[in-house]
Amino acid sequence: MTRPTILAVINQKGGVGKTTTVINLAASLSILGQNNLVIDLDPQGNATTGFGKSNSDESKNIYNLLIKKINLKETIQRTEIKNLDLIGSHVNLSGLEVETANDSNRAFVLKEILTAEKNGLLSNYDNIFIDCPPSLSLLTIMALVASEELLVPLQTEFFALEGITQLVKTIDRIKENLNPSLTIRGILLTMFDKRNKLSSQVDEEARKYFKEKVYTTAVPRNVRLSEAPSHGIPVLLYDKICPGSKAYFKFTEEFLDQDKQVETAA
Ligand SMILES: Nc1ncnc2c1ncn2[C@@H]1O[C@H](COP(=O)(O)OP(=O)(O)OP(=O)(O)O)[C@@H](O)[C@H]1O
Ligand SMILES: [Mg+2]
Repeated sequence: MTRPTILAVINQKGGVGKTTTVINLAASLSILGQNNLVIDLDPQGNATTGFGKSNSDESKNIYNLLIKKINLKETIQRTEIKNLDLIGSHVNLSGLEVETANDSNRAFVLKEILTAEKNGLLSNYDNIFIDCPPSLSLLTIMALVASEELLVPLQTEFFALEGITQLVKTIDRIKENLNPSLTIRGILLTMFDKRNKLSSQVDEEARKYFKEKVYTTAVPRNVRLSEAPSHGIPVLLYDKICPGSKAYFKFTEEFLDQDKQVETAA
């Protein structure tokens, strides 16, 4: 597969660890020497602030890119982390769906922008991560259409699997109609609490249903992970030996192993 790989981190359920996964996976990969771009496609702008950037920058933001007020090069910002760039969000993004109601091509806009520069401006990146909002609205559809692979964080709690069944149906519909080569790269169990029986039950069920798609590493519930964003840094820079850091680093190694497996198979 040609670089970069475009991946959306997706789950229509809110607060399951999408943004935490985007920030910490991208940061770990960048620390290991890969080049990464994060696109914050959520009007909440949590990935943007989590990297210490403003989610009210009136010029450099994904909304202006999608409505073609600004070009791709101008939207990309450097973060404090080497090899890690960002296209930040803005609250205006929440109006995009209504504002583009008459545009029948709108689901393809992000894909077209990324495809046009895949062999150009974007060719230096190993991965482009898209952080999705907690819904199956236009923004998420745009991400599903633009992506090659999906990462699904799954919070180990009641109803988690019901939500994912709905998500899988949506993904299948997108594959049939808009993006046939889309694949689920993996499912990451998050906020795992080994003292909680429910956590282990969801773990077991998810592995039974999705088999080897579920990463061996499960991210534990760890308060350090929730503290890091308020300092505008990934947890690896905030407290590199806390259980959350260790888990995200182990998950990153699994993620990289998947790349190696693809290369060996090719
Ligand atoms: N493993 C964890 N342990 C403890 N807290 C966590 C963990 N993962 C994420 N959090 C915290 O839980 C909250 C939700 O996480 P996060 O923002 O990553 O989820 P999300 O799926 O992106 O949410 P949204 O759907 O609103 O975009 C945040 O406050 C985050 O810091
Ligand atoms: Mg989020």
